[in-house]
Amino acid sequence: MEIKDKMTKAINKQINAELYSSYLYLGMSAYFKKNNLSGFSQWMRIQSNEEQAHAMKFFNYVLERGGEVLLEDIKAPNENWKTPLEVFEAVYKHEVKVTTLINELLKLARQENDTATESMLKWFIDEQVEEEANAKEILDKLRLIKDSVNGLFMLDHELGERK
Ligand code: FEO
Repeated sequence: MEIKDKMTKAINKQINAELYSSYLYLGMSAYFKKNNLSGFSQWMRIQSNEEQAHAMKFFNYVLERGGEVLLEDIKAPNENWKTPLEVFEAVYKHEVKVTTLINELLKLARQENDTATESMLKWFIDEQVEEEANAKEILDKLRLIKDSVNGLFMLDHELGERK
């Protein structure tokens, strides 16, 4: 059964939101690199790639269901980050917002009796639990670290291990 227009439109908006996430994290990766925190920068770069993969999952899904992919402008992210803590506060807040968007998509899929989309979204619901937890863990560590340069470098090393 071909996907309905209303659902397609909503998923297209989500493709844009995922690409924005990718862009946002890419900007954060640059901020960290500029501030000699290569581990944080590497973590963000991988995160940016993951968001690109999320966008592609939706992209492929729309096409597979016979829908039309419509790509729109990607908003420019904020580039005036002041501290790693401020960055991770924004990351956590952003991921919570993305979870809300996924939940809204699920609500729409249910209203439209679109069981295929409902099933596809299950992966994203699980993924968001992980995304929020990862961001929250780093945010909590940064709050513990406060102004300790040693602590910051230790965390930078840890985050640089992400492959
Ligand atoms: Fe695509 Fe970080 O959620």
